[in-house]
Amino acid sequence: MHMTAIILAAGEGTRMKSRHPKVMHTLLDRPLVSWVTRAARKAGAGRIVVVVGHGADEVRAHLASEKDVECVEQTERLGTGHATRVALEAAGISEGPVVILNGDLPLVSPDTIRAFAKSVDGGAHAAAILTMTPPDPFGYGRVELASDGTVARIIEQRDCTEEQSASLLECNAGCYAFDGALLAARVAEIGNDNAQHEYYLPDMVEILRGHGHATTIVHCDDYREALGVNSRAQLAELSALARDAINARLMDQGVTMLDPATTWVGPDVTVGRDTVLLPMTMLWGSTTVGEECVLGPNTRLTDCTVADDVSLEETVGVDVTIESGVTCGPRCYLRGGAHILEGAHVGTHVEIKNSTIGRGSKVPHLSYIGDCTMGAGVNIGGGSITCNYDGVNKSRTTIGDNVFVGSDTMMVAPVTIGDGALVGASSCVTTDVPADALYLERAEQRIVEGYASRRLERLKKGKA
Ligand code: UD1
Ligand code: CA
Repeated sequence: MHMTAIILAAGEGTRMKSRHPKVMHTLLDRPLVSWVTRAARKAGAGRIVVVVGHGADEVRAHLASEKDVECVEQTERLGTGHATRVALEAAGISEGPVVILNGDLPLVSPDTIRAFAKSVDGGAHAAAILTMTPPDPFGYGRVELASDGTVARIIEQRDCTEEQSASLLECNAGCYAFDGALLAARVAEIGNDNAQHEYYLPDMVEILRGHGHATTIVHCDDYREALGVNSRAQLAELSALARDAINARLMDQGVTMLDPATTWVGPDVTVGRDTVLLPMTMLWGSTTVGEECVLGPNTRLTDCTVADDVSLEETVGVDVTIESGVTCGPRCYLRGGAHILEGAHVGTHVEIKNSTIGRGSKVPHLSYIGDCTMGAGVNIGGGSITCNYDGVNKSRTTIGDNVFVGSDTMMVAPVTIGDGALVGASSCVTTDVPADALYLERAEQRIVEGYASRRLERLKKGKA
């Protein structure tokens, strides 16, 4: 089955009261539109065509990283029917199953989309629409059934009489499947004689019916999957629903959460068994976490790879790899491709960027380690820093195995400290240190007995 997905994402989203297009608002770890492209991709769509319009540059720039997505532009926002027509024409779609998804329908599942496309594949049905009965149907298009049980038409909220609004409780979710050839042939018949003077895609149902093609209904038993986002309140509501669904799945797979309400995990994250997620932990993007780890409280990881038996307390990690048995935090910041090898310890108020911390090495307190390759069994004293940036260039620091760096050491890169070397506290290392050597750079020490009180006397006299 060669399914094409069209995602309608050109609207402004007036009800969001935002400078940004609605589909760029973030739900968990990604904009709304990327939930829908993800669902279409997972459902096996051969082509994913996104209709952009309002804030097109912002949406296009975001989607540039999704290589399988094509954008087409709807320059005037004349409604969902018009957006569909623009997509069909610009992308040259005239056959096969075509699934059309509202860009503000983030929680629709790939299974639902796949089942949808199947139902119109090979001419079984002309069209299918996803419906639901939410507790509050206000704002949704209402489905009116004909006496034979098929869909007669869909009436938008604004076009409903009071009676229709109160009695028609089955709602259009904004997920449609069409036989592509029929859709392409008839889309121009959609008119704009309605309250908003817009071309409504749901009108396609009545048009097809007029040509003798019935539309089937797929009722979504869990209405939550089919909710749309039109306001900030709905965005918050759907964020909580997405969080709860993901957390329920993870707990079912053997993950412990002290407080699922404050534990936020993106849809693509995996977490191993017997790992404990403590409150205020956020795991985003392509993060994977192994077994028997303890994460949080207050830990945020984006695109990280974490092995087994790792403890990350109050740790922020972006694009890092952490091997088994590592402990980090409280309060450390790991980023830019940092790689923390087995059993290493990164402690409090420590930042590690684009560096390898060797097996069992320790950076326990108040340090910045950037652009550094560090061997195994190294100890970095508190307050030590790799001076990796001269204002123009970044340079590397190389530290061998079993090096002991005293506290408050500045390592001015490029510099190499050989295996087993010892650097005295408070040194500024500006030349390479041979293996097994002592490097000490310290001003002459003086003790002047009784100086402090003599000075105080002198100052007081001067004041009098
Ligand atoms: C739409 C449906 C309604 C359904 C509801 C489900 C229509 C006319 N109505 O209403 O039956 O119950 O979704 O959530 O389709 N868009 C464009 N170009 C346009 C207009 C809209 O691309 O010219 C996009 C929007 O960006 C949005 C989607 O289409 O992602 C739906 O538009 P929206 O204005 O949110 O429609 P609703 O009023 O929610
Ligand atoms: Ca909507």
